[in-house]
Amino acid sequence: MAPRPTPADKFSFGLWTVGWQGRDPFGHATRAAIDPVESVHRLAELGAYGVTFHDDDLIPFGSDVTTRDAHIARFRKALDETGLVVPMVTTDLFQQPVFKDGGFTSNDRDVRRYALRKVLRNIDLAAELGAQTFVMWGGREGAEYDVAKDVQAALERYREAVDLLCQYVIDRGYDLRFALEPKPNEPRGDILLPTVGHALAFISTLAHPERVGLNPEVGHEQMAGLNFAHGIAQALWQGKLFHIDLNGQRGVKYDQDLVFGHGDLLNSFALVDLLEHGGPAGAPAYDGPRHFDYKPSRTEDIDGVWVSAAANMRTYLLLKERAAAFRADPEVAEALAASKVAELGVPTVGDGEGYAGLLADTTAFEEFDVEAVAARGFGFIRLNQLAVEHVLGAR
Ligand code: GCO
Ligand code: MN
Ligand code: MN
Repeated sequence: MAPRPTPADKFSFGLWTVGWQGRDPFGHATRAAIDPVESVHRLAELGAYGVTFHDDDLIPFGSDVTTRDAHIARFRKALDETGLVVPMVTTDLFQQPVFKDGGFTSNDRDVRRYALRKVLRNIDLAAELGAQTFVMWGGREGAEYDVAKDVQAALERYREAVDLLCQYVIDRGYDLRFALEPKPNEPRGDILLPTVGHALAFISTLAHPERVGLNPEVGHEQMAGLNFAHGIAQALWQGKLFHIDLNGQRGVKYDQDLVFGHGDLLNSFALVDLLEHGGPAGAPAYDGPRHFDYKPSRTEDIDGVWVSAAANMRTYLLLKERAAAFRADPEVAEALAASKVAELGVPTVGDGEGYAGLLADTTAFEEFDVEAVAARGFGFIRLNQLAVEHVLGAR
């Protein structure tokens, strides 16, 4: 019996996820559009607590002010009826042809100014709806041709944009933080800020680094062959995990946006274990939304869309259950100790010892039995097998 999702689980979905019609570079849409109001109701029925959107998901691009207000009013009514919240909002700077060379980093200055205006307007809406996080995925910020993009200038313009947006939020007194979403490629041949590491380094150059963190997506790191759970661990360690996009990806290929757990299941287990028990003394390491950014494959009909939405939450909860069982298993505790996993938490040099104390400690070097220690195994495979057996429900 899998646990049922409730709002306390903080599951959220983008309108563009369940609303994806299945259009890809090789084929037409396979499903009809879904009214955002219907998505809000269905997601609430399934046990989600939140819904997120790009401006253009909710308000068709180019709508006049009256039409825009009407779309927002309908959406607000659905939120009131269901109790769903809007924890995050983002801006679409990638679909419209005007953004074909990017928004913040387009070679065309007029496009950059227009992009900033589009984001500023959407920040006001995010604040109005009570969002705490504003995601920036720069899908079109990049290039196909090395000679056509001055990457240093592009990064300078990216920084200029983020600094300006931070200043706006500060001046308006909005309780809103920014979360950059790295991705290595697709739709551009190469996207700027391609990984968690690149984005963290970029944040350290900003005027208001405390306002800016990350929204890493499972599949995006995996598209670059990287370990997602490791990237999340570093983001947590640097206090930068502001939001997260959960989904599935099978290896280094196009962005699959599969259901969470339908890619690398063991890494998903490690991720859930980290989020739920990786804090101080086994407390959750992250208490923000568990946001699913996936696409119901174009093979699915509308019923399949809602089945897939439920599958994301069910998989998360099952992995959470499995991770708790893993942590509670005495044999796991013993294997963790044998592998010295907790010993890594002990500082290498003692309090006040310094290099002088280390140099004076003959057991650290002169009398250290290199061969005996080198001969000792760490028992990592036994430990990992216990994890695999917990994932498989065999323990
Ligand atoms: C992707 C991206 C997008 C962004 C979203 C937020 O799959 O390439 O994750 O889905 O998350 O557009 O701007
Ligand atoms: Mn993706
Ligand atoms: Mn995403």
